[in-house]
Amino acid sequence: MTVKKRSLASLRSQLHLLTGFIAGFVSAFMLLLYIYDVNSGMPHAPTSSSSSSSSVRAYQLAPAAASRVLCMVLTCPDYVERYAQHVAATWGKRCSKLLFVSSEDYEPLGVVQVVQSDSYDELWNKTHEGFRHVWLQYGEQYDWFLKADDDTYVIMENLLQLLSAYDADMPVYFGYQMSRYNVSYMSGGASYVLSREALRRFMSQAYGNSKLCPAPKTMGIEDFYMGICLQNVGVRLIDSQRALPQLDERPKFMPINVANYLYNGNISIPDWLRAMSLNEIETGYNCCSNYSIAFHYTKPELMYLYEFFLYHLRVYGRKYAEEPPAKLTAAEIMEMFPLENNSNIQDLSQWANKPDNF
Ligand SMILES: *[C@@H]1O[C@H](CO)[C@@H](O)[C@H](O)[C@H]1NC(C)=O
Ligand SMILES: *[C@@H]1O[C@H](CO)[C@@H](O)[C@H](O)[C@H]1NC(C)=O
Ligand SMILES: *[C@@H]1O[C@H](CO)[C@@H](O)[C@H](O)[C@H]1NC(C)=O
Ligand SMILES: *[C@@H]1O[C@H](CO)[C@@H](O)[C@H](O)[C@H]1NC(C)=O
Ligand SMILES: *[C@@H]1O[C@H](CO)[C@@H](O)[C@H](O)[C@H]1NC(C)=O
Repeated sequence: MTVKKRSLASLRSQLHLLTGFIAGFVSAFMLLLYIYDVNSGMPHAPTSSSSSSSSVRAYQLAPAAASRVLCMVLTCPDYVERYAQHVAATWGKRCSKLLFVSSEDYEPLGVVQVVQSDSYDELWNKTHEGFRHVWLQYGEQYDWFLKADDDTYVIMENLLQLLSAYDADMPVYFGYQMSRYNVSYMSGGASYVLSREALRRFMSQAYGNSKLCPAPKTMGIEDFYMGICLQNVGVRLIDSQRALPQLDERPKFMPINVANYLYNGNISIPDWLRAMSLNEIETGYNCCSNYSIAFHYTKPELMYLYEFFLYHLRVYGRKYAEEPPAKLTAAEIMEMFPLENNSNIQDLSQWANKPDNF
């Protein structure tokens, strides 16, 4: 009798436990559904800015739904361990595909040999051959092609946010705009991004045509050469400072270390940067967009520091209210970013008498 009573009581308490558990499970499930709904209810590439109206919700890019970005990072055998592996361990893992190009294969890290010898002078050939490799191996599988150095740090979410306003079938390329001999181009160290159409034109019209695009030669200024080649095949430069006026109008790809802008800024901005930049350089917190994408001259230890500050550290109680950008139409882009008058580079054979470093 007592045994029966006790077992009944124990059954009852087990039932209580079970209903409590089920209730807990159901409410957790409802919460999950709610979170899922909030996230998925937010379009990644909305058709117009007016549709996002006044309701400001927390917004996070779902990697699966975002554009596919292939990251091509230039490295060399001596820097695979010193630099490249730290790119792979930090921001590189957020690329849809991460690929290092070098003068020697190194399989554990996905380093591919694209040139024979290695020196700074081979930089153009490495970039040129790297893009060829990428196009032949992966071309149609990706929307955007980022070229970075092994000492560039990239915030992939902010890059995806920028790109979501554009169409990869438009001939465009993004970065920090500079000028040399009155020819505009995007800084290489700050990294730059080609649309699929830009890369297609580079490979089908510029590559191998020494009239439109410098032939491989021992010269380091890959970014300047890339600017010539791309503009000669009708690719528009989109300086990130003007790319998305609805967020802020500051540069997003930074050609020097971010500390140089922030600490004692005026002194640590090199003259060459002031001379070659499209816009006036600001120092202090106005230097860089709140949605900055890339920082050059980032040593490996800084990569882990950025990683920690950006993806781990939380400031208790802080919430962001963000809205995704409106998608721009081809007509708007053509109006905002006209092709430059580059009659001086349309036939490079005319450039035979240019200075040594060309
Ligand atoms: C550029 O790289 C290709 C492929 O490795 C090589 O055949 C060519 O000789 C290189 N050109 C120069 C100028 O280094
Ligand atoms: C650039 O263009 C300006 C005016 O268009 C000209 O005065 C200047 O000499 C040019 N600079 C170079 C380096 O060609
Ligand atoms: C950038 O962020 C800071 C800090 O949240 C804020 O005060 C500033 O207004 C932001 N700038 C722009 C242009 O949104
Ligand atoms: C930096 O230079 C700008 C423009 O020359 C000037 O307005 C600003 O006051 C300077 N800032 C400092 C801290 O010297
Ligand atoms: C482009 O520039 C060249 C030389 O600087 C000039 O002769 C030509 O008229 C310009 N073309 C247009 C369409 O502005």
